[in-house]
Amino acid sequence: MSQTVLITGTGRPYALGFNLVKRYLEAGDTVFASIRRPSEALEELKKDWPGQLEILTMDIASTESVNAAAREAGKRTDHLDLIINNATTASADTEKDLPDFDLDLIAPAVNTGAVGPIRVVKAFLPLLKKSAIGALIVNISSEAGSIGRCYRTFYLDYGTEKAALNMLTMTLHNWLKDEPNINIFCLHPGWIRTNPGNNEAPLIPYEHAETLRNLFETKRHDKNGPVFITYTGEAYPW
Ligand SMILES: NC(=O)c1ccc[n+]([C@@H]2O[C@H](COP(=O)([O-])OP(=O)(O)OC[C@H]3O[C@@H](n4cnc5c(N)ncnc54)[C@H](OP(=O)(O)O)[C@@H]3O)[C@@H](O)[C@H]2O)c1
Repeated sequence: MSQTVLITGTGRPYALGFNLVKRYLEAGDTVFASIRRPSEALEELKKDWPGQLEILTMDIASTESVNAAAREAGKRTDHLDLIINNATTASADTEKDLPDFDLDLIAPAVNTGAVGPIRVVKAFLPLLKKSAIGALIVNISSEAGSIGRCYRTFYLDYGTEKAALNMLTMTLHNWLKDEPNINIFCLHPGWIRTNPGNNEAPLIPYEHAETLRNLFETKRHDKNGPVFITYTGEAYPW
């Protein structure tokens, strides 16, 4: 059965979001792909999938922008079955330790990487509630957001935003406990080759997007399983 999916942060052809868009289109689904600025790659993709791919402009750091995108989506669909909160950010200082890190960069990173996905959930909730197959929200987190496994001395912004995203996900999971039609979890997706200058990462975005697509379907109605998981489906330590 085909579904209607929203994926954020989809403008870079070498990154995960764009490749998730491709995989869902190939599976026959309708995809709302959001970007914060024009993407030539996504426009090209739309030529191949004119009836299935909808492009939305949405800056997840801005409540106004997210609410406007939700209103726009509501004109083009009457429901959503899946939201993949993929967009994220890291500051220019992300690999620096405390003495060299501008601490004022942490709050904007948290605003985008942790509050952003929850803004999206809040604004698109009315569409999720109308899913006929049971709606799913996937927040793409990272092992960098695990406090229990934290070993780095850097990622002061990125680690904090992902840890905050995990907390927000668990809190919404609790809130949605008695809502049979909506499920939510967060995921460490693995180390993916999304940096064009770095071929060290083992997972190829297009191939890995299909692994994740299949995993997400096993989690749609799983309200009692782990809420922070890795791409193999196993629990990851908070
Ligand atoms: N790659 C990995 O190995 C890895 C490992 C663990 C977790 N993850 C997580 O997996 C997800 C995808 O990773 P990736 O490496 O493919 O990401 P990426 O290449 O860094 O792409 C992030 C996307 O988020 C968008 N974005 C940034 N700020 C935004 C905003 N304010 N509003 C809307 N969109 C915004 C960017 O848009 P622009 O193109 O306009 O900048 C970009 O398309 C992320 O959540 C990341 O944290 C990745």
